[in-house]
Amino acid sequence: MKLFIDSANINEIKRAFSTYLIDGVTTNPSLAAKENIDFDKLVKEILDIFKNTDNYVSLEVISLKEDEMILEGIKLSKLSKNVIVKLPCTEDGYRACKVLSSKKIRINMTLCFSASQALLAAKAGAFFISPFIGRLDDQGYDGMKLIEEIKKIYDNYKYKTQILVASIRSPRQVAEAALIGADVCTVPYAIFEKLFRHSLTDTGLKTFLDDWYNYKSRLGK
Ligand code: E4P
Repeated sequence: MKLFIDSANINEIKRAFSTYLIDGVTTNPSLAAKENIDFDKLVKEILDIFKNTDNYVSLEVISLKEDEMILEGIKLSKLSKNVIVKLPCTEDGYRACKVLSSKKIRINMTLCFSASQALLAAKAGAFFISPFIGRLDDQGYDGMKLIEEIKKIYDNYKYKTQILVASIRSPRQVAEAALIGADVCTVPYAIFEKLFRHSLTDTGLKTFLDDWYNYKSRLGK
């Protein structure tokens, strides 16, 4: 399973990328706005991090109308070979997805909250579908169940669209997404850090080193 960092923060993206464990980044207008710097500058800095890689950088359009989405999508796609254009799961979004995909521009259909939206995204030729599981859980639904449903539908019809599990709230959800067979998980930096850790790793390591240095000091006597 590929792992993306869900952030527009340059330091977080650089740190995550330096672990060699990251396959790309997802951004959205809220994440970009949080950084409070010029958007073009931000995008350039993000793209620079990934410039010598085959990693994926999802950049979202702001337009709502099909024609404008298409123009914005073409513009974003020209910035770098790493760019994946993010479009919302709306009627205009699906239309723009179909047109841009036919031009070989890779699309990430975002804000997906139902299996039927995911089905339409695949039919429109999307490269990625982004179901937001945390936001569904927040509303009392079962976000991970949606991933299972999408996986089943895509397997049934051999759709090539990749399932990108988004809106992750815990490290356990990353493992659950992998168990289901999702293609990608995008995680906020705080969750990415937690993926490394287990308290038994820390206590186990401490015991190993305590035992080792006790043995060395015994030999030294
Ligand atoms: C994914 O592409 C989105 O940026 C993201 O996962 C949204 O997550 P949130 O629900 O934590 O805002």
